[in-house]
Amino acid sequence: MRIPLIVGNWKMNLTTKEAASLVEKLKSRFSNIEGVEVAVCPPFTSLETVSKLCKESSIHVGAQNMFWEEQGAYTGEISPLMLKDLGCKYVILGHSERRQFFGETNENVSRKVKSALKHNIIPIICVGETLAQREAGETDRVCREQLQESLKGIDNLEGNEIVVAYEPVWAIGTGKTASPKDADHVANFIRLILANMYSAKTAERVRILYGGSVKPENIVEFMAQPNIDGALVGGASLKADSFGEIVHLCLV
Ligand code: PGA
Repeated sequence: MRIPLIVGNWKMNLTTKEAASLVEKLKSRFSNIEGVEVAVCPPFTSLETVSKLCKESSIHVGAQNMFWEEQGAYTGEISPLMLKDLGCKYVILGHSERRQFFGETNENVSRKVKSALKHNIIPIICVGETLAQREAGETDRVCREQLQESLKGIDNLEGNEIVVAYEPVWAIGTGKTASPKDADHVANFIRLILANMYSAKTAERVRILYGGSVKPENIVEFMAQPNIDGALVGGASLKADSFGEIVHLCLV
């Protein structure tokens, strides 16, 4: 039984004060929520504030990236120990914006995934095709390569120590979404790859999220798909009303 998971990816938005104000509003909306897990991923600058505010609540906290080493001369980077110290349960890895703007490769992602697992942080591994790749019929190949390479060298997985997010790049922040059926096809394909790499049991346990222009208006259709277990929400996670509504719509 996979518990639905809704993750807010705040990206490079909100000052600490704004982040605190948003999380206070979310706390009151989710005060006795059951049957769906909620996490928010603020920028590093507000992680500590948000994490403290979420301590006695049902909201979990994650980071948007991390480096694989524990410490050392890596100017500008944040380590898994630092994220653990702040109470992070999740870390988003391999987001397409990191691949596009910061040169993140599958090899980098794989080192980060290994490091996250070693430190008991659940990596949310992002995969997804660009518009050109989709139009060339390469969606499955791209997603397979990204997933297999991100998990390279990890021989055993139970299933609940990772989350996979399928995010078509052309759907991120554009208002366009994959059709729920197409998204479910890719989610099912991801499950088959996981079954192949590990076991059917592992594949059944991994939560697969859809991401890309998720809103209150379309969440129900995505959640109705058999292989989609939740959403990675960008823009709509920055407002308590829209994020609150997305979470509540997952309960019906
Ligand atoms: P979006 O972003 O909801 O704004 O499209 C999703 C994401 O990048 O995780």
